Amino acid sequence: MGRMLIGACCVFACVCAAVGLRVGAGIADVTGPPAEVAFKMKPFQMGYANFEQIGHGIHLRQFARAFVMEDESTLQRVVFVSVDAAMMGNGVRKEVLKRLQKRYGDTYTEDNVILSGTHSHSTPGGFLMDFLFDLPILGFVKETYAAYIVGIFKSIVMAHNKLAPARMEYSEVEILGANINRSPTSYLLNPPEERAKYKYDVDKNLAQLRFLSPSNSIIGVINWFAVHPTSMNNTNRLISSDNVGYASVMMEKALNGNNTQPGKGNIVCAFASTNLGDVSPNTRGPRCEFSRAVCDQGKLVCSGKERCFASGPGRDMFDSTRMIATKLFDGAMKALEQPGEDVTSGPVGMVHQFVSMPDQKAYAYDPLTDTFNMSSVVNGCVPSMGYSFAAGTTDGPGLFDFKQGTISGNPLVARVGGVLVAAVPGEFTTMAGRRLRRLLARAAAAAATTRVIVAGLSNLYSDYIATYEEYQGQRYEAASTIFGPHTLEIYLNKYKELTEALISGNPVEPGPSPPDFSEQLITLVPPVLWDAAPWGRDFGDCLLQPRPRYSLGDTVTATFVSGHPRNSIRHGRTYMTVERLESEEDDAWTTVATDADWETKYVWKRNSKILGTSEAEVEWEIPEGTTPGTYRIHHYGNYKYILGGIYPYHGFTDSFEVT
Ligand SMILES: *[C@@H]1O[C@H](CO)[C@@H](O)[C@H](O)[C@H]1NC(C)=O
Ligand SMILES: *[C@@H]1O[C@H](CO)[C@@H](O)[C@H](O)[C@H]1NC(C)=O
Ligand SMILES: *[C@@H]1O[C@H](CO)[C@@H](O)[C@H](O)[C@H]1NC(C)=O
Repeated sequence: MGRMLIGACCVFACVCAAVGLRVGAGIADVTGPPAEVAFKMKPFQMGYANFEQIGHGIHLRQFARAFVMEDESTLQRVVFVSVDAAMMGNGVRKEVLKRLQKRYGDTYTEDNVILSGTHSHSTPGGFLMDFLFDLPILGFVKETYAAYIVGIFKSIVMAHNKLAPARMEYSEVEILGANINRSPTSYLLNPPEERAKYKYDVDKNLAQLRFLSPSNSIIGVINWFAVHPTSMNNTNRLISSDNVGYASVMMEKALNGNNTQPGKGNIVCAFASTNLGDVSPNTRGPRCEFSRAVCDQGKLVCSGKERCFASGPGRDMFDSTRMIATKLFDGAMKALEQPGEDVTSGPVGMVHQFVSMPDQKAYAYDPLTDTFNMSSVVNGCVPSMGYSFAAGTTDGPGLFDFKQGTISGNPLVARVGGVLVAAVPGEFTTMAGRRLRRLLARAAAAAATTRVIVAGLSNLYSDYIATYEEYQGQRYEAASTIFGPHTLEIYLNKYKELTEALISGNPVEPGPSPPDFSEQLITLVPPVLWDAAPWGRDFGDCLLQPRPRYSLGDTVTATFVSGHPRNSIRHGRTYMTVERLESEEDDAWTTVATDADWETKYVWKRNSKILGTSEAEVEWEIPEGTTPGTYRIHHYGNYKYILGGIYPYHGFTDSFEVT
């Protein structure tokens, strides 16, 4: 089969603001279809797709958080978008660029836009067209694809419109108790002299860039902390941006005011992905499901049919998500209050290249001196998965098993002021990320660029990148390093080359474009056929009323006659609100929470496919600090009429008291 194997390398260069830096930040809803779409899919068994983890509601909405940075002297721009998504794909990026170019000409191109997925595992799938090339059974979900394109585009437009003079400051803070290495035995394969440079087997520092207006008010913040957003495990069925997404929501509330609804504030705070390849938030580590004995994928197996998976630190996955998110939020707030290092000065620029990974030859890298051996040449391999990828990780057996369809990667490096951002197309392990940072810090030192940040899961998805030594262990991350044992070395060579080009201002070849699969898409997700209310009922009728009275900490539950949520994703809006009565005479209610808030859950259930009836169950866990008063729950939706057409409806519960 004549397939084309592409990796993309991106170096994000900083346009330095000798004259000045302008920055704008924007946020938009990118929530995917909340029902009947799988979060992740397993490869086929016996010729049938095995769809797992089908979504049926929303806990936290997904957002795209965009930052546009411009060098006032050269008008060079760099766009960085962190998206609450498992990863980014070239198809999404291409469509976003197409729309940007229609509106802004050549201001935004392949050479200055970075889309980085946070890597939340609880978000709808089916938007990475490339996987279809090898595994057409996975299916393409147009609604997910469109949700990302429209939302990401909107967030960039918003940031573009808000461009204003700004300063940029860097700070970092250590966060303990929020991450562990999930393949510690692989980490130990790295040379002892190299490991001795580091206190921990995962990175514990949160790196923060903050953008400030000339009057020192905060425009936005980007944080990078290495952790998988897998606090929500693979039994979860509700869309969730997981630990990093909730940390963003908390920080945006803290800075915009606690009454600001998620996704609606002016100040934008992204918690973006970095070298999280071997890093788990499940701090209790892997244990057997029932016996609670310590276990490990492949090595220390549990008895009988018991599964081995990691969890913690909380009592359940929601509690764990909240605890990890709170640690990230607290750390980020601490970093924000610390005096920052001014990194405004320096040019803004970016270089990017698509790379055909299997064809690459690279110099061998010495991790002890961070130099290349010019008399030793290594090669890339055609993509393949090692045996142990099938065993999965202790964060969830068999997550993202669809990897074997991967064909691409692309290095990109951007520089903004004194900061160099290496946007990497996959999941670098802890040590792989450290090597890249060390190498690029050396390469950029002459240009007074002191800080190097690895932005993970950017633009394309090319699986894991483990070190050569870790590769020999062939655990999950190594077995998923699809371009072979020298994958990291190829990237290190490329990123060094791109960084040098960025700093010297020399152009780089764009490289071969990844193949376009948009003509070959198929979907196995059935369309919504029709909706109907049960006899004697209307859409929006409340079937199960809340109790008349609640206390703080209680959970309010209500059930409504519902339409299918895929009739409208309600971006920037909500499927439900919690409302407080402000004035009895005027019947005036204010919204205190939406479906994007932590305290609420929106769960959808199809009662009968044939009759088209369904229910929406809405929950509100009344948080501490809630103002006592009269409340109600409001449900919004759209139904598909059997003879055609989609119509909005809404309905509310009886009012109830919170005391
Ligand atoms: C917002 O909430 C946080 C966390 O609950 C609290 O510490 C802070 O004081 C609140 N801010 C305002 C302005 O009420
Ligand atoms: C997921 O978390 C829930 C608790 O929220 C727990 O009951 C379940 O066993 C966990 N499953 C896996 C596979 O991690
Ligand atoms: C460089 O590679 C060559 C060929 O593999 C090898 O003989 C030599 O020892 C290496 N040099 C260093 C400094 O590692």
